[in-house]
Amino acid sequence: MHVLTVLDHPNPNSLSAAVAQYFMDGAALAGHSTELADPNAEGFDPRWTQADADGTADLSKEQDRIARADAICLVFPLFWWGMPPTMKGWVDRVWSWGWAYDQLDDPNMPLQPKRPATLLVPAGASSTTMQDKGYQAALEHLWREGTFGYFGFAPLRIEFLCGSTGSDARRKGLLHRAFECGQAIGQS
Ligand SMILES: Cc1cc2nc3c(=O)[nH]c(=O)nc-3n(C[C@H](O)[C@H](O)[C@H](O)COP(=O)(O)O)c2cc1C
Repeated sequence: MHVLTVLDHPNPNSLSAAVAQYFMDGAALAGHSTELADPNAEGFDPRWTQADADGTADLSKEQDRIARADAICLVFPLFWWGMPPTMKGWVDRVWSWGWAYDQLDDPNMPLQPKRPATLLVPAGASSTTMQDKGYQAALEHLWREGTFGYFGFAPLRIEFLCGSTGSDARRKGLLHRAFECGQAIGQS
């Protein structure tokens, strides 16, 4: 498979950037070809504007990358229990009405083919906090049933890489998990 990884982080030395690299290394070891989209480094403008509303924004570079991908991985740090602004804007703008979905015909029918997908989400919170406070269940529901289900991401694997600001040993473990996810693309 050809695997597109989209990374939202401005710092190439961040944990998130390393997570994306480990995921791609795992995918490559499993025999997949890999491609990285780095909207921050590429100067992607995440602001949804009137051109997006009119359907005249040129999103062909991003959409062509998606079109040639058999599987997708999104890597972004958890910011206030959601996506950080560049990933949010990338999702808002690139997965556009008429290309990704068409509410007028069938709200449950993505226009894009179904693709295996992985979300790798470094989060400062501990896994206990994520679970006990209900954050993990809430986000999984919104992303699985809403946003990414709507885009045809299936099977969808969501990995919260909790304790991302912890010790080196902790972060090493999270990178290992990202590597394993790369190796296991397509399994839910
Ligand atoms: C603006 C901002 C908002 C954040 N919000 C959350 C949050 O809601 N939940 C959480 O667990 N961590 C939160 N964090 C912590 C980040 O998820 C954490 O710093 C990141 O995963 C570390 O990875 P990095 O080194 O790749 O940035 C936030 C950090 C920032 C800067």
